[in-house]
Amino acid sequence: MTNIILLGPPGAGKGTQAKRLVDERGMVQLSTGDMLREARTSGTDMGRKVAAVMDAGHLVTDDIVVGLIEEKLTTGAAAGGYIFDGFPRTLKQADALGALMARIGQPLDAVIELRVDDEALKQRIVGRYTCGTCGAVYHDTNHPPKVSGTCDSCGGTTMKRRADDTEEALRTRMLAYYRDTSPLIGYYYAKGQLSTVDGLAEMDAVAVALAKVLDAK
Ligand code: AP5
Repeated sequence: MTNIILLGPPGAGKGTQAKRLVDERGMVQLSTGDMLREARTSGTDMGRKVAAVMDAGHLVTDDIVVGLIEEKLTTGAAAGGYIFDGFPRTLKQADALGALMARIGQPLDAVIELRVDDEALKQRIVGRYTCGTCGAVYHDTNHPPKVSGTCDSCGGTTMKRRADDTEEALRTRMLAYYRDTSPLIGYYYAKGQLSTVDGLAEMDAVAVALAKVLDAK
């Protein structure tokens, strides 16, 4: 069992690789972005509060996202280990995660930075869509399904695009990444937990590089 953080800017490939690790290794993906998107469609007060923040590309408050993760860590079983996808995103969240893992007696085995070039991100983000049924991630040109409009994984035919996958929201998301999240690279490097993988490589090559890091743990 291995617990990892996937760290990287919007479009780095965190969700794509996390889903592969779930399929291939039975790991449990904890994506705060997915949890927040679920909350907003469930019509809760919290969901309504975060919707505008997310659509504009700003970060949701630390208290909300730490609460979401805490709920999952205490109620969910981590079969093959946890993949933290899009969390932590601030130093405060990183400290909170350390405390939560200590509380449940679990190690954090690796923090894997998916390093990418900013120019590639725009193309990835504006071309992205997902299966409305199972959440599989596709791209107009980089990774279309085998049969157009039909999900390779579940056969679903409803595809969705995210409200924050616009050039304008992406600029705000990138700013948030460099201001609040990129300091985590130094934070985890100093703790001796950081590994870096080339996120610009082909999806299969990125998966092989990630597997090497995990197998070394
Ligand atoms: P979140 O959902 O976490 O979005 P993000 O971090 O911006 O990351 P993305 O999901 O956009 O990208 P990804 O790295 O998963 O890329 P993907 O694999 O999809 O967060 C959304 C919002 O929620 C935030 O802005 C914030 O408001 C809020 N939020 C979430 N967590 C929070 C937190 N902890 N604190 C505060 N607020 C929080 O790939 C992208 C595209 O590229 C796809 O189309 C894919 O097919 C393609 N692709 C992937 N890999 C490759 C490859 N190797 N080569 C070519 N194409 C590729």
